[in-house]
Amino acid sequence: MKIIGTGSALPEKEVTNDMLAGFLETSDSWITTRTGIQTRRLLSKETLSELAITAAQNAIKSSGLNPEDIDYLICSNVANSYVSPSLSSIILAPLGCCCPCIDLNGACAGFIYSLDMADAFFKTGRAKNILIVAAEEPSRFCNWHERETSVLFGDGAGAVVLTEGEGFKDFRVTADTHTDVLYYKRSLEVTPYDRVEEKTMPLVMQGREVFKLAVRACIKDVDVMLERNNMTGEDIDMYLLHQANMRIIESIREHLGQPKEKFPTNLQKYGNTSSASIPILMDELSRAGELKDGMTLLLSAFGGGFVTGITIMKWSEIKYEEE
Ligand code: UT7
Repeated sequence: MKIIGTGSALPEKEVTNDMLAGFLETSDSWITTRTGIQTRRLLSKETLSELAITAAQNAIKSSGLNPEDIDYLICSNVANSYVSPSLSSIILAPLGCCCPCIDLNGACAGFIYSLDMADAFFKTGRAKNILIVAAEEPSRFCNWHERETSVLFGDGAGAVVLTEGEGFKDFRVTADTHTDVLYYKRSLEVTPYDRVEEKTMPLVMQGREVFKLAVRACIKDVDVMLERNNMTGEDIDMYLLHQANMRIIESIREHLGQPKEKFPTNLQKYGNTSSASIPILMDELSRAGELKDGMTLLLSAFGGGFVTGITIMKWSEIKYEEE
C-alpha cells in the first residue's frame, strides 16, 4: 500500500504554558525544559468527531478519490464521549463513505497499529482504498488539578488515505502488560451483581517509568527494524516519531547519531496528541513540501499498554490544491 492523501485538524483554542501556570503550580520554564511543549490546542467549541471529519475530508480531497471509493475506515482512538457507537461509525455517513468501519485503540501507537492492520487488508485483497483517521482528545482524560499530566497533552486529528502500491517496506508492532504505569479508567453502570462500585479515574501516569520504557522500547524497535532491512540510520531521510516529549525524541536521535534536521517536531505547538501526533506531523510536512518523492521515512510510536509500533516507508509526493 501507499499513502495518497493526508489531512489534519486542530481545535481553535490555543493554551500556552503561562495560561496553565495561572491555575496550576507549574511554569513555562519547567514545561519547556522537561518536555519541549510551549502551547497546545484544546477542544472547547468543537467536538472530536468534527475534527475527525475535517481531517478525513482533507485527506480524501488530497487523494483525488471520492468518499464512496473508500472501502474500509479505521479510526484510531483511545476514548471519546461515546463508548458506543464507535467514532468510525459516527463519522462514516457525514463523510459520505459507505463501507465497513472499526475503531482501534492502540494508545499513542494506534496510528501505526492501524497502518499495520490496513497493510494486512491490502495483502489479503480485502480493500483497495482505506481511510485511517487518528482522532484523540487526551485533554479530556486528565485531572486538571494535577500538573503531572494535564500540561502534557493536546487534542487533534490526523488522517491518511491509502491505496494499493509499494510504499511500505516493513512493520513491527509490539505489546506488553504494564497497566500500572499509564491508565485512565471509566466507570461502568452498576449492576445488582457487581460487588465493587468503580469510579472514573483520570489519567494516572508514572512519568519517569513511561519515559524509560518509551526510550528503551523505541530504540529496540529502531535497531531491529534497521537491522532486518539491512539499513543504517543514514538510510532514513526523516524520522517521524511520536510527539510526546522532546527529550525522548532527543534520546533516540542521539542513539542513532543522526542530525537534528531529520527529526521534525511539532510538539512545541500541539503537545502530545496521542495517536494523532504522527499523522498531523506528516500532513504538515507534506503540505509544506518537506516530504519529497522517494524519501525514506521511519515512523515510530509508543503508548500505554505498553505498546509500540514502527514502520519504514517510501514517500510519494502528494499534490494539494490551493485552499
Ligand atoms: O504518550 C505517552 C504519554 N506519556 C509520556 O510520554 C510521558 C513520558 N514521561 C515524561 O515525559 C516525563 O517523565 C515528564 C515530563 C512527565 C516528567 O518529567 P521528569 O523529568 O521525568 O520529571 P519527574 O516526574 O521526575 O518530576 C521532577 C519534579 C518533581 O518534583 P520533586 O519531586 O523533584 O520535588 C515533580 O513533582 O518535577 C515536578 N513536576 C512538576 N513541576 C512543575 C511534575 N510535573 C510538574 C509540572 N510543573 N507540570
